[in-house]
Amino acid sequence: MIELHDLTKDYKTTLAVDRLNLHVRAGEIYGFIGPNGAGKTTTIRMMGGIIEPTSGAISIGGIDLRKDPVAAKKMIGFVPDRPFLYEKLTGSEFLRFIADLYAVAPRTAARRAEELLRQFALWNWGNEIIESYSHGMKQRLIIAAALLHDPKVMIIDEPMVGLDPEAVRQVRDILKELAKQNVTVFVSTHTLSLAEDLCDRIGVISKGTLLAEGTVAELNRAAKTGNAGLEDVFLTLVREG
Ligand SMILES: Nc1ncnc2c1ncn2[C@@H]1O[C@H](COP(=O)(O)OP(=O)(O)O)[C@@H](O)[C@H]1O
Ligand SMILES: [Mg+2]
Repeated sequence: MIELHDLTKDYKTTLAVDRLNLHVRAGEIYGFIGPNGAGKTTTIRMMGGIIEPTSGAISIGGIDLRKDPVAAKKMIGFVPDRPFLYEKLTGSEFLRFIADLYAVAPRTAARRAEELLRQFALWNWGNEIIESYSHGMKQRLIIAAALLHDPKVMIIDEPMVGLDPEAVRQVRDILKELAKQNVTVFVSTHTLSLAEDLCDRIGVISKGTLLAEGTVAELNRAAKTGNAGLEDVFLTLVREG
């Protein structure tokens, strides 16, 4: 469902992503972990069509992002690391606005918005302005907005930053539920315990290069760390670079 082929981003001052190759299957939750500055956000911005790769290719659901960006982007629900919300709008108004941007038919949009607000425990807050929402509620609304057009692929950059444990669990459950509905989830995160619990496979990136990928057991084999938890495996892989 997601294929990155020799994906590279050279900011000239920094080679942020260096010939990255990666495949994610339909319905899989793929975790993308790495230290600060590893190139996660740069990769995700290229996948969302926000910035142009220096070289290499991205295909989403078999569609080449460069050749047919509109069709590829229709497949994607995109949640950036610093999402923008019009906080003077109510949750419902915001969803209507995003549905318009994605050209979702008004009737479909209204039904979908109600479904998502209910599913994400925001229904009672739909008519309140976003300014009054907690951080966790804002994050759930952003994810809801990214799902309005029924994407096949969800790409999320650091969805857990600043959330309290309860909100982390809610977001985790949302992502698990998506995967059950056969949505492919690509998520970057710093929260390793969560990655371990949530993800089918994990890719470890450092200095723009994929160091290892697989299940936690497979990563353990790559790092020769026996039966360690993801945190030890991660630190070993990154240290040995
Ligand atoms: N717009 C930019 N111009 C120049 N360098 C950048 C830019 N954006 C990110 N970088 C650099 O690219 C590297 C990767 O950054 P980033 O993709 O944000 O990493 P991560 O999300 O893993 O923390 C870092 O060294 C960062 O300083
Ligand atoms: Mg980042």
